[in-house]
Amino acid sequence: MSMSISKQPPRAPFTRRSTAEEVTADIDLDGKTILITGCNSGLGFESMRVLAMRGARIIGAARTRVKAEQASAMIDGEVIPVACELSDLDCVVSCAEEIRKTGLTIDVLMCNAGIMALPKLQQKYGLEMQFLTNHLGHFVLVNRLLDRVEAAPAGRVVMVSSLGHYTSVAGGINFDNLSGERGYVPFTFYGQSKLANLLMSNELSRRLEGSRATSNAIHPGIIMTPLSRNIGSIRANLSRIMSWPVTRSVEQGAATQCYVAASPALDGVSGHYFVDCNAARKSYHGRNPELASRLWEVSEKLAAQYL
Ligand SMILES: NC(=O)c1ccc[n+]([C@@H]2O[C@H](COP(=O)([O-])OP(=O)(O)OC[C@H]3O[C@@H](n4cnc5c(N)ncnc54)[C@H](OP(=O)(O)O)[C@@H]3O)[C@@H](O)[C@H]2O)c1
Repeated sequence: MSMSISKQPPRAPFTRRSTAEEVTADIDLDGKTILITGCNSGLGFESMRVLAMRGARIIGAARTRVKAEQASAMIDGEVIPVACELSDLDCVVSCAEEIRKTGLTIDVLMCNAGIMALPKLQQKYGLEMQFLTNHLGHFVLVNRLLDRVEAAPAGRVVMVSSLGHYTSVAGGINFDNLSGERGYVPFTFYGQSKLANLLMSNELSRRLEGSRATSNAIHPGIIMTPLSRNIGSIRANLSRIMSWPVTRSVEQGAATQCYVAASPALDGVSGHYFVDCNAARKSYHGRNPELASRLWEVSEKLAAQYL
């Protein structure tokens, strides 16, 4: 099976220091509708703020409607707040149904929400929680809304993956241990969920071939957000870590996902992985089309009653 990678994206004149406002400076999103998961915090909130500033109507998803409403009240622009608890697949289905009822087409579906490195194994539906939240919840949301994305003139799915996809479990995705019961390591299971984000984007891109819609994945950089709440050593040394040259601000961290969501230069570009607004190299497993296809099929089985 071949990888589905469209034309190479043009080189973007941005760096790791560019902010979301800077990379979208000349872009008019008036008339576009952008769904963002995890809109109440960190990169999702900044993406919502900046993309709304550029004129998009935002559908802002958070774990609860109250959280989504509170976040949307803090920015200028049009926001439809919705509840989407990704680890509750009934809630994901209800969210998708509520969005469908608006009759809106979706120009961008930004799968941004995520959790990282839960210290102890947590499970639901017999699945490890990071795989469920970061991957399967988004898998259901995207599949339930895909026709709304395809109905847009140039619909885009943007998967917020991570450089952490390089540090997944042996074999990339351990289909024999999606429950975590045969051994759980917090960071490698985070890596597995972020590899799943990338593989899902790759496979979706292949499935969207011949349509107007595209799918790409991104790594935002290293940004001190509440994402690291579970890692005591990071929290204890926050001010020191923030001064490291590799870390960046939330305004800079949201740049790549906003650029990939909004830049006209990326029309028709699909199946890529972006870092600092430019196409970057995927890991060995992240380049494996068979693994991507198998993950899609397994995910369909796992979530069958919600699709
Ligand atoms: N920060 C980094 O250095 C970094 C690096 C690489 C990749 N990323 C990726 O960037 C994305 C955004 O992270 P961030 O740094 O902005 O973290 P963040 O500030 O913690 O935001 C994460 C968002 O996801 C939401 N969320 C968590 N669990 C959820 C669930 N079960 N259902 C629905 N929403 C849920 C959170 O809601 P609550 O606030 O209610 O918990 C929050 O809105 C994540 O996918 C992360 O993996 C971040």
